[in-house]
Amino acid sequence: MISSSAQPSPASLDRSTEEPEAVSAALVRPQTSTATELPEILCKRYKIERLLGVGGMGAVYRARDLLREQYGDPDPYVAIKTLNEEFAEYPDANALLYTEFALTSRLRHSNVIRLYAFDVDPHSQRAFITMEPLKGPTLDQLLESHPDGLPWNEFRDIALPLIEALACAHERGVLHGDLKPSNVMLAKDGLRLFDFGLGQPVQGLLNGLPKLSRKRIAAWTPRYAALELLNGEGLTSTSDIYGLACVLYELSSGLHPYSRLTAKQAKSMEQDKSLQKPANLPAHCWPALRQALAFDKEARRVDARGLLQAFSASAPGLFKRLLRR
Ligand SMILES: Nc1ncnc2c1ncn2[C@@H]1O[C@H](COP(=O)(O)OP(=O)(O)O)[C@@H](O)[C@H]1O
Ligand SMILES: [Mg+2]
Repeated sequence: MISSSAQPSPASLDRSTEEPEAVSAALVRPQTSTATELPEILCKRYKIERLLGVGGMGAVYRARDLLREQYGDPDPYVAIKTLNEEFAEYPDANALLYTEFALTSRLRHSNVIRLYAFDVDPHSQRAFITMEPLKGPTLDQLLESHPDGLPWNEFRDIALPLIEALACAHERGVLHGDLKPSNVMLAKDGLRLFDFGLGQPVQGLLNGLPKLSRKRIAAWTPRYAALELLNGEGLTSTSDIYGLACVLYELSSGLHPYSRLTAKQAKSMEQDKSLQKPANLPAHCWPALRQALAFDKEARRVDARGLLQAFSASAPGLFKRLLRR
């Protein structure tokens, strides 16, 4: 068994993890715990080697796929995501992880994490997802080494694939629900958006999936959450745009757009009135980004494709700028 001490708990979060403030188990805790410790080998096939990272709800391990190894695969490694013990003991925990698998599997995009399979270990009843193992910093780690934000060229190389990944998800009817720097990794072969654990299909799609109310799972980071989510409204693509815009602003300036406050707090302080364009960001990108940062969803009229257009357009030449004046 993987000992309890090797199991991450929100209290042991380190630099590479998400923040304890984000984590609160709002599900009704069952009377008796049903979760068992994570076995060292899952489904007689995946040998857990080490912990790669923990988030608000899950833990991701590097594992060796013994079957692939048996057939001589020189690279038999996979990443395995399970819910951490605190969440694994809830009756619908496996369904929660399956929803993440079903949503992410709909997406085929080079900037979205590639999942392999969903499985349940018959002995421990622990559900898990196998996926491509990634190496590289998450955007929150990148931000730590760039306190003043990224220069435009470097920023654009991250912004464009990130917006494209979200545009792909929205076009396939998948809402992410938890856009923030720790859910994006700069892998060696390019950026990956991952962790659709709080994701949802748009209305009318994938109706067979269990309906898990976001209100019951308060494991998200409030400062990237759109105002309407904080007010208890349902997730929409527009709410994802707010989280994305906060990440883009932070990457460009090194600072959260609203001083790390929640949208609710920042709105009450009218912080949108003093919002400044990040110095590193070309002026032609600002109107779209500013709109994406609007507190009220009705005013957040730009979608992922609109942001992509704004960020991929080249700056207008001097002549056009003079004409605009
Ligand atoms: N495929 C992967 N390869 C390597 N590390 C990963 C992979 N997926 C996630 N991680 C690491 O594990 C952390 C937690 O994963 P995540 O899916 O965000 O879990 P949670 O749902 O708990 O937030 C990530 O922030 C990242 O550091
Ligand atoms: Mg996460």
